[in-house]
Amino acid sequence: MELLLEELSVLVKNIADYSYEIYQHSLNVAIIAASFAYYLNLPEEEIFLFLIKNAGLLHDIGKTKIDIKILNKSEKLIEEEWKIVKKHPVLGVEILTPYPWARSFLSLINYHHERWDGNGYYGVPGNKIPLGAKLLALADAYEAMSSDRPYQESKNLEQSLKELESCSGSQFEPFLVGKFIQLSDKIINQLGKDGVFKIGVHQFK
Ligand SMILES: [Fe+2]
Ligand SMILES: [Fe+2]
Repeated sequence: MELLLEELSVLVKNIADYSYEIYQHSLNVAIIAASFAYYLNLPEEEIFLFLIKNAGLLHDIGKTKIDIKILNKSEKLIEEEWKIVKKHPVLGVEILTPYPWARSFLSLINYHHERWDGNGYYGVPGNKIPLGAKLLALADAYEAMSSDRPYQESKNLEQSLKELESCSGSQFEPFLVGKFIQLSDKIINQLGKDGVFKIGVHQFK
């Protein structure tokens, strides 16, 4: 299915207009996940890179349907708010369903908050989570740790890798955490000097 770059650009621009922070996070996740996939030397690499890169760009697009006040809240979310935030994968699927070129990676977006131990948003067990969604989840977590957020200071590479390792076997598949750590130098080389991606930021503006 042909990817319509114009449609993709409009969707990514919608994310940027909604929240510059989510936009930058999405670019970073796309690059981390795609470079991780690239260095894993997977079969049918080209197809997989297409899926993972675009799923990374659009994985949090469902958040644009959620009140920004909830997403920006620095205090702990109440149960009702948390329930709303947890809808963002399925809201993303709803937004992207009309686009034929997005259908091949909707499951990656739908399952990007699943955990290896089955305690993710939908409770999908680790062996049933698509590989691409597991890579997205790792890239998502690494990006969140290594960026400054209103509620946390960024972690350096060593601290971030330690935290990923501490979640090996619970949040993440141990084999993939090991590979991510092993390949981290190469993956991080795709980033700017301070660990934040510099490339492509104005690509869709
Ligand atoms: Fe998400
Ligand atoms: Fe995310």
